[in-house]
Amino acid sequence: MSKIKSNSSHRAARVAIAVMAAGKGTRLKSKHPKVLHEVGGKPLLAYVIAAATKVVPAQDVYAIIGHEADRVREAVAHTGINFIVQKEQRGTGHALMVAREALASYDQVIVLSGDAPLISPQTIQKLRDFHNSKHPAMTILTAQLYDPTGYGRVIRTTKKKPDVKAIVEEKSATPAQRKIRETNSGFYAFDARLLFAHIDELSNDNPHGEFYLTDMAGILRKAKKSVMAVAANDPHEILGSNTRAEMVDIDQRMRLAKCRQLMTDGVTIFYPQTCVIDWDVEIGPDTTIEPFVQILGKTRIGSDCRIRSYSVIKDSVIGDGVLVRPGCILDGAHVMRAATLGPYSHLRPGSEIGEGAHVGNFVETKKTRLGKRSKANHLSYLGDSEIGEDVNVGAGTITCNYDGERKHATVIDDGAFIGSDSTLVAPVRIGKSAYVGAASCITDDVPADSLAIGRARQIVKEGWTKAKRPSLQKPDKPALG
Ligand code: UD1
Ligand code: CA
Repeated sequence: MSKIKSNSSHRAARVAIAVMAAGKGTRLKSKHPKVLHEVGGKPLLAYVIAAATKVVPAQDVYAIIGHEADRVREAVAHTGINFIVQKEQRGTGHALMVAREALASYDQVIVLSGDAPLISPQTIQKLRDFHNSKHPAMTILTAQLYDPTGYGRVIRTTKKKPDVKAIVEEKSATPAQRKIRETNSGFYAFDARLLFAHIDELSNDNPHGEFYLTDMAGILRKAKKSVMAVAANDPHEILGSNTRAEMVDIDQRMRLAKCRQLMTDGVTIFYPQTCVIDWDVEIGPDTTIEPFVQILGKTRIGSDCRIRSYSVIKDSVIGDGVLVRPGCILDGAHVMRAATLGPYSHLRPGSEIGEGAHVGNFVETKKTRLGKRSKANHLSYLGDSEIGEDVNVGAGTITCNYDGERKHATVIDDGAFIGSDSTLVAPVRIGKSAYVGAASCITDDVPADSLAIGRARQIVKEGWTKAKRPSLQKPDKPALG
């Protein structure tokens, strides 16, 4: 069957995207695989796959995995893409050799590096469109980098003809070639038939002893096939992360871009350089984020909120008009509109804070629902509890939810008032509009509308101190004058 015929105009070219993600990432000196290292709160590979699946359907995306393959597969399996295992990682060229069987039936193969997360779908589309319009054997995505140290350099044929002669890796480059700023991105589009017809010509006779995919440029050129280059929309999109320093640089660019986007969408962020906002976070307009705030994971924050300094909010949902005072820690919490938190509240997973409710300083909640307008303003632990509306939880109230083996629930019905410094020993229920006297230890249910006092009665021993302490028995000094 002739692939050239199948490339003809009567049907669209079948395009696969291969994402190279098998490498160990030796330069990171890490026990974790490189592509699972995170920037902007997500693994490097997740960004590349997200961009790829915006250009072709997931069923045509293939991740080439190898080092810690099971972990890598598990981290991105939900995307619905395919996986190819490169057992031994013998170079980027070898990665494509291993993928031959899966990819040979396509017309075009776009190759992406799994460690370059800034790549946009628009640039992949540009690479694809350029390749489709000019039909070379290979198109290389390039960028003019201010400092291309460590990257492969693109060697052109002549200045007039924009064809590429070869790519030279940094280690093999002559001093003159190292001065070239046109950089190989590690992203390419190939005519699949020509790639696999010539891929076995790669050799590993180079300083790393690896099969370099980059050598395909010279090989195809020598076979009189055309090799071209197209520039990325933004040169930064090609940045790879081989070292921790490069990864931090990418992380910063990504987060600053995220802050700019949020500001464009109506969010005020003071000193965005000090804020750590993950890529998937959503924030509504007219919300203000103060300096030194972290908003992480899949957090969603509504409109007209104020998030004050030093708060760390992870995987939480916050409604409109919520005030988060300084120093709050939220993890897996749900806060309804117009609630107030902090300073220094700690909302752990399963905390659900009702509309207009208040959670104050040094209050910790876990698996706890606090109803509308209810207040727990000072120094409390509320765990495994169901608290109704308009409840006042006094300062220092503790739910004793754990008996050393199991957790038990505390229920406080609407309108109840819990006096300060009370301990509620679960399982226990405080009925509607009931009162608990301050400093009570409540071990039994309290019926609605009742007062429960569970503390020792106060006794007063008059004159006790003077009788006890001899020093106080000395006569009083005469008054002066
Ligand atoms: C590669 C290019 C270089 C380019 C740079 C852009 C080669 C030889 N060099 O260098 O010209 O400027 O990318 O970032 O290709 N991988 C595998 N299997 C392997 C080896 C690597 O899947 O056997 C994967 C890695 O996990 C990584 C990607 O391929 O995601 C690129 O490999 P890496 O070692 O980072 O190549 P660079 O040295 O950055
Ligand atoms: Ca790299």
